[in-house]
Amino acid sequence: MLDFEYYNPTRIIFGKDRLSELISVVPSDSTKVVLVYGQGSATRSGLVDRVKSILGNRIVGEFSGIEANPHFSTLVKGMKLINDCEADFLLAIGGGSVMDGTKFMALGSQYEYDDLLELLLSYRVGDEIHSALPLGVICTLPATGSEMNSGGVISHEDGKFYFNSPLVFPQFSFLDPSLTFTLPREQVANGIIDAFVHIIEGYVTKNVEARFQDRACEGLLRTLIEIGRKTMDNPEDYDTRANLVWCSTMALNGMLAVGTPEDWRGHMLGHMLTACYGIDHGKSLAVVMPALWSVARDEKRDRILQFGERVFDVTDGDEDMRIDRIIEKMRLFFESLGVKTRFRDYDMAQDEVEVILTGLEKYGQGHPEWNREVLEAAI
Ligand code: NZQ
Ligand code: ZN
Repeated sequence: MLDFEYYNPTRIIFGKDRLSELISVVPSDSTKVVLVYGQGSATRSGLVDRVKSILGNRIVGEFSGIEANPHFSTLVKGMKLINDCEADFLLAIGGGSVMDGTKFMALGSQYEYDDLLELLLSYRVGDEIHSALPLGVICTLPATGSEMNSGGVISHEDGKFYFNSPLVFPQFSFLDPSLTFTLPREQVANGIIDAFVHIIEGYVTKNVEARFQDRACEGLLRTLIEIGRKTMDNPEDYDTRANLVWCSTMALNGMLAVGTPEDWRGHMLGHMLTACYGIDHGKSLAVVMPALWSVARDEKRDRILQFGERVFDVTDGDEDMRIDRIIEKMRLFFESLGVKTRFRDYDMAQDEVEVILTGLEKYGQGHPEWNREVLEAAI
């Protein structure tokens, strides 16, 4: 096992109808709270009104309208509002886009806006910004793990840019599975795939004898397979959804990957697919991952085989036949959730691959020949 340090200060408040506890977890000296939410789901469900009735006049402002794959220019507007209100606490209500956007504003509003874009584009937000507003989360979409990690992804023009800072761990996150009942089916599927891929990008790398981490990953992956389709077909089955919510949080709160090598090339390619063609994050991963494994089959051979045996019970046949079957089973799992797994399913082909490759090259991401091989295998 590799050396590691693990730190995670986020308090998780898990369960139904616990929002009244906001009163005690928003710090008592935070009297200027700004609510941050997306494009309508949290208003339509009545969640924003419930929060307002709990926090009352401690709320001094609201910033809504954050779009999926939150855009830098939107967040600059939010930062102006936050500063005009002299906010001392941000409360994010939504999915990964709202949570990531809130984290970015928590950092950016403490900094010179004019220089922020340069920091974002050069991945230096976490290194250069040394203070942030405190924030909390009410998570409405199980997928990204943003509710219990210190990362975020922000879009700008033709790219998506990652940042990470321990200053933006949420102080608390409310995970109420019943708040996810209103999710459209396709967002539930996106979330299942995103969580699944967060686990495999840490697990299918190299064996470092991290046995507990391996078993924890395998348990989570098997759980996602067991409940994935079930929670889509029975969206208001509380216990099934509760399992999805907790699996998604665990998949990317840093705990599983401690002491192990990680390989985020699937996300790198997926983000460019989203940046160029607006394909949802989860859907982009479903296209990229089967192709990535078929190209990286030698490099990842032992780990794909272990994954296949322990997660999909694939034990018969020679190694290459088994790897083919394992990749096929992963593809079928994604497709069983109603998500497409090839470019051609989106009417995309070689021309679109060239556009994505140009984007990757522009931002110096990955190795051009390897990127090409994977993307062409995904057609
Ligand atoms: O904007 P509203 O109206 O709220 O609608 C959203 C949005 O249209 C809707 N939604 C959310 N909760 C709902 C709901 N609709 C009905 N009922 C609810 N309870 O769902 C749509 C998608 O929301 P979004 O937040 O964009 O989805 P997701 O949670 O999948 O987040 C995706 C973003 O997270 C980033 C992605 O790159 C992408 O920008 N990621 C963040 C990570 C992190 N912070 O660690 C890691 C991930 O790998 C990922 O990159
Ligand atoms: Zn992801």
